[in-house]
Amino acid sequence: MSETIQLKIGDKTYDLPVITGSEDEKAIDISKLRDLTGYVTLDIGYKNTGATKSAITFLDGELGILKYRGYPIEQLAQKSSFLEVAYLLIYGALPTAEQIADFQRQINHHTLIHEDMKKFFDGFPSHSHPMGQLTALISSLSAFYPESLKPVQTAEDVNLTITKLLAKMTTIVSWIYKKSLGHPVIYPQNKHDYVTNFLYMTFGQRTEDVTIDPVIVEAMNVLLILHADHEQNCSTSTVRIVGSSEANLYSSVSAGISALWGPLHGGANQAVIEMLEKIKEDGGDTDKWIKKAKDKNDPFRLMGFGHRVYKNFDPRAKIIKKACDDILEKLGIDDEVLEIAKRLEEVALKDPYFVERKLYPNVDFYSGIIYRALGFPTEMFTVLFALGRLPGWIAQWKEMKENKEPIGRPRQIYVGAIDRDYIEMDKRELVTQ
Ligand code: ACO
Repeated sequence: MSETIQLKIGDKTYDLPVITGSEDEKAIDISKLRDLTGYVTLDIGYKNTGATKSAITFLDGELGILKYRGYPIEQLAQKSSFLEVAYLLIYGALPTAEQIADFQRQINHHTLIHEDMKKFFDGFPSHSHPMGQLTALISSLSAFYPESLKPVQTAEDVNLTITKLLAKMTTIVSWIYKKSLGHPVIYPQNKHDYVTNFLYMTFGQRTEDVTIDPVIVEAMNVLLILHADHEQNCSTSTVRIVGSSEANLYSSVSAGISALWGPLHGGANQAVIEMLEKIKEDGGDTDKWIKKAKDKNDPFRLMGFGHRVYKNFDPRAKIIKKACDDILEKLGIDDEVLEIAKRLEEVALKDPYFVERKLYPNVDFYSGIIYRALGFPTEMFTVLFALGRLPGWIAQWKEMKENKEPIGRPRQIYVGAIDRDYIEMDKRELVTQ
């Protein structure tokens, strides 16, 4: 017999089904609650609400476990390439050599973007934030590739849009960077793999056939893999909810990019470096800044610390911290902000404020230091996060469609005014907000 939980309201008892996930996590199915009882649940910020059943990513915040399609993040970061992980997330299994070669070939076939899209780059002010440009450019792909708008999509149609989006994202991100420098853009070269092609378009020059340092390719692969999916976070939930209205993939992902931009989410990687720089300029007194972070009257928060789900440690942060040390050593870079970051972490991990609230470094605490060492300007960091998260958003959008999930539409508890009569303008009193 299937497990149920009893809910008692007044003198009535209701049996609510219990759903058990494959890693034994439990949920109370309240999908019939309102019909049965007239009640809805209230969970601001969705701290306890499962929005879907998903087979893509599993994470255990208490034990610090993260797996994509059952594979531990540590193994994927060490052994696979970003494109392999993208395939795994989107199609559910690790690709064979033939499948990955074919995937790479199809992507290379679509890396060019329509020449008319270059006019967008010319139209943006030279100092506009790369995330603002990215969200607009990704949404505009639907105008250039209208097959994504067909009301009935075959699996081939969906795969074509997925391939185009993965392919064109690298070109768009590189060109945003080139344009920010005022440099000419570099066109993709099909001989390169996914990550190398991206780095070639970003750091290459038109006149020479630049070889990208394998250390940089490896570092980029690891960073992108670690960011590739993270189940139902703010941006992914946005992609799923926008997609649930049957909006096309480009605009669903564009919405996810907007959600990622905020400093409490993906924008934290930019905010971390800005914070570390500020601490450095201020003399590097980490104790002073820890004190500020603890002061409830001070809006300062320790950026890159804390996570909605990880309450023990973030497994991605562990891998990134080690990668950060390795890469800086390999590239022969001595970055003072890395020392400040390590000191902050050390002090915070012993401080009762952070210990009691289970605040640990998250994926963004060290990633910015690596991006900087690779040569990216601070404002590009969140765009790189978006490049990494793209396969996750695509996989989640595809799963939502395949599961035929209904349009996302939460309820609310109304707490506003009741039954007011309209007041003519000359009779209104000033109400200060
Ligand atoms: N510095 C200081 N105090 C913090 C921090 C921080 N970074 N993070 C949380 N706290 C405190 C809160 O003030 C709160 O204290 P209280 O209980 O005394 O009121 C307590 O810890 C719980 O914090 P919440 O904000 O309620 O936790 P929530 O789960 O809602 O937020 C979040 C998680 C948004 C990540 C938060 O920890 C934060 O703002 N961190 C800094 C921004 C950041 O690094 N974001 C990236 C997250 S990873 C990612 O999205 C890729």
